[in-house]
This record gives sequence, C-alpha cells and structure tokens, in this order.
Amino acid sequence: MHFQWYPGHMTKAKRMMQEDIKLIDLVIELVDARIPMSSRNPDIDELGKNKARLILLNKSDLAEDRQNDAWAAYFKEKGYSVVKVNSKKGGGIKSIHAVIQEACKEKIERDRKRGILNRPVRAMVVGIPNVGKSTFINALAGKACAKTGNKPGVTKGKQWIRLNKNVELLDTPGILWPKFEDQTVGLRLAFIGSIKDEILNTEELAAEMIQFMKKYYRGVLAEKYAIIESDDPYQCLADIAKSRHCLLRGNELDMGKAAILLVDDFRSGRLGRITLEFPEDYK
Ligand code: G4P
Repeated sequence: MHFQWYPGHMTKAKRMMQEDIKLIDLVIELVDARIPMSSRNPDIDELGKNKARLILLNKSDLAEDRQNDAWAAYFKEKGYSVVKVNSKKGGGIKSIHAVIQEACKEKIERDRKRGILNRPVRAMVVGIPNVGKSTFINALAGKACAKTGNKPGVTKGKQWIRLNKNVELLDTPGILWPKFEDQTVGLRLAFIGSIKDEILNTEELAAEMIQFMKKYYRGVLAEKYAIIESDDPYQCLADIAKSRHCLLRGNELDMGKAAILLVDDFRSGRLGRITLEFPEDYK
C-alpha cells in the first residue's frame, strides 16, 4: 500500500500552532481511543513542552473499555493527565473541568505566589483531522459558550471561548498531521477512516481488517456474518459477500461491496468495541 500526504499543509498548520501555543497554558490533545499512538503526532511533545498537558481518549465508545483504561494508565505514567471521552454523546465531558484545574495546578500556584488571583487557564485543543476536535469543543462549550472576542495584547483575530470563570479555550483547534513513517500506522489510520479511502484499495484494507480481527478478536466476524473464519482473508471476504448478498450481475460475488460493508461496520461500531493497538506493544 502506498500513502501520500501534503507537506505544504503540514508546514502551515505547524507554524500556526507554534504561534497559538505561545498564548496558552494547557494543551488538550485529542487522540482516537482505538489507536492512541497512531493518531498522535509526537511533534506535539516538542511544541507543547513547558505546557500543562491533557490527553483525551476520544471516541472511547468505539474502543474496548479495558484497553481504554490500559491506555489511560500508560499516558498517566508518562506524566499526562488523561480522560476517556465520548464527545458525540457527552460522556466524560463533565469531569474535564476538575482535571484541567488539577493539570494546571502548578501554574495556578505560581500565579498565586505572584499575587495573581483568578486568572483563567488558557487552553487549546489539538489533534489530527477527524479525531473529533470540533465535536469535543461543542460538547465542552455547550450552548452557554460566550465568545470573548479579541483581547488587547493578544494576537488579533484570536477568539476565546470562556467556559467558566476558570478556563478559556481558543476556539479554533490546532491541526496535527499523523506521522506515518511506518506502514502499520498508515494502515490503522485507514481502518478508522482518517486517510481518504480513494487512495487505498478497499478490498486490501478489508483483508487486513479480517487478519487483525481473527488474531485479536477471534469469533467476532464468525458471529456477526455467520461465516467460518478461514485462514485466507479473501475467502472470508467472499463468505461475507455471500452471507450479505453482495452480488454482481450474474450472481458473481461483489467483493468490493463486501469490503465497504465490513469497513463501515467496523468504523460505526457495529462490530463491537474494538481497539486496534495495545499499550504493551509500546513499553
Ligand atoms: P475534527 O474536528 O477533529 O476534524 O473532527 P469532528 O469533530 O468533525 O468529528 C469527526 C467525526 O467523528 C464526526 O463524525 C463526529 O461525529 C465523530 N465523533 C467525534 N467524537 C466522537 C466520539 O467520541 N465518538 C464517536 N462515536 N464519534 C465521534 P461524522 O461521521 O463526520 O459526522 P456525524 O455523522 O457524526 O455528524
């Protein structure tokens, strides 16, 4: 498989983020709970050094909860604050305010010692495309969000959302690009739909998905599609096509349609809660 990306966008996004990061105290980094490592760009550690850090395992509703907890422990051990969230349904959102205060307690204490009281923490949301940044900002800010407008001394054009008296959020999230120096990362991003399907062969992707499922979630495909999980992933795909009546003219199996069906079933959670990478592989 071959993946391509656009360095022009990358450079511009990075430059914008470097500017925005100067204005904030806390980086709220969204990752996809199904692939917490592959959906990160480690550049953020350099960009966000000296800032308080919060990692949100977003779309936690689509990942296995036991693994969500394992990932939360993994990142906590590395010094990040972590919250599992489902931005779409609002799960975990309420607990974030307390975690923000905790993550920024050193800054708040520093302010207090200097006699600065009640200065709100300033935060920005960052993450790769489609990880749920806009959904999260809407969920956190809710309807009550009041834009504070331009502030004197702050780069013109920046909009801040005042979440409460303690926290202000930059209204535009920072876009990070996934880093795919290895093929596995690209493949996992393709599984969750972060890479445009047009640049990949869907049948090949489905075959990879089948291999993964047979290895880590044995029996799930057999039950869902009433098939036998044979060794040959293309045979499995053909069986899915048969079982789901994906047919071309003349009763030939429509492997392409079966592939789309399988990948869609995974992405929408219809195969169940599935985690694609595991913390023990990153120890
Ligand atoms: P972005 O700003 O980072 O690019 O992402 P955005 O908020 O646009 O979200 C991308 C997709 O992910 C959206 O789906 C959104 O609904 C979904 N999403 C965000 N957070 C969660 C979550 O915690 N759980 C689940 N299951 N989905 C989440 P979409 O298909 O593009 O739109 P829609 O059909 O949901 O409206």
